[in-house]
Amino acid sequence: MNFHNASFKAAYGTSAQLPASTQPEVSFAGRSNVGKSSLLNKLMYRKGLAKVSSTPGKTATVNFYDVDGQALVDLPGYGYAKVSKSELGRWSDLIEGYFNQDRQFALVVSLIDIRHEPSALDRHMVQFLQDAELPFAIALTKADKMSKQQAMKQLSMIRKALNTPKEVPYVVTSAEKGTGIEELRRLIADALGA
Ligand code: GTP
Ligand code: MG
Repeated sequence: MNFHNASFKAAYGTSAQLPASTQPEVSFAGRSNVGKSSLLNKLMYRKGLAKVSSTPGKTATVNFYDVDGQALVDLPGYGYAKVSKSELGRWSDLIEGYFNQDRQFALVVSLIDIRHEPSALDRHMVQFLQDAELPFAIALTKADKMSKQQAMKQLSMIRKALNTPKEVPYVVTSAEKGTGIEELRRLIADALGA
């Protein structure tokens, strides 16, 4: 799977607009500002293909990317309190709507900021993935913000807090430094059989 061969496909603002899934897809979920769009850009060798912002709530639609004929999906972030009630409703509809649809989930990459203990929403997300028996991996983001040694400590703390089954892969990543990106590409390609 050639990650250089990437393009933006489409964006959807409500779950009703989401087209039926016609091929397996790898989606990226996590709280607002955790670094989903940045990680996607890094995976796709592209700076601005997915819009990134230091203000949480940048990605407000479900965005589909084509990578060498495979589907990658950037989801809006959860847990951003500063948007209006109606906007919040639309977001949860989008995220829940996406996951409740009969889609071909090849892999969900659940992103967690390596600096912090997983939030209630993070734990919710991971519990949901387990209960729904969806294949998922955890990407710990922004590892460049600490030393390698600290990162290993955080990894073990977060693993314990999330208490995921042994087979769930954890990848320590940095969209800034490129840490873990090749490993994540391999996981994605394997999940897609590509
Ligand atoms: P929403 O679209 O709002 O849900 O956010 P997102 O999860 O897509 O996050 P985004 O990629 O827009 O990044 C949020 C902020 O974190 C930006 O200021 C990024 O530059 C920064 N950021 C993302 N990844 C990293 C990383 O690996 N290291 C560092 N230091 N900063 C990062
Ligand atoms: Mg985003």
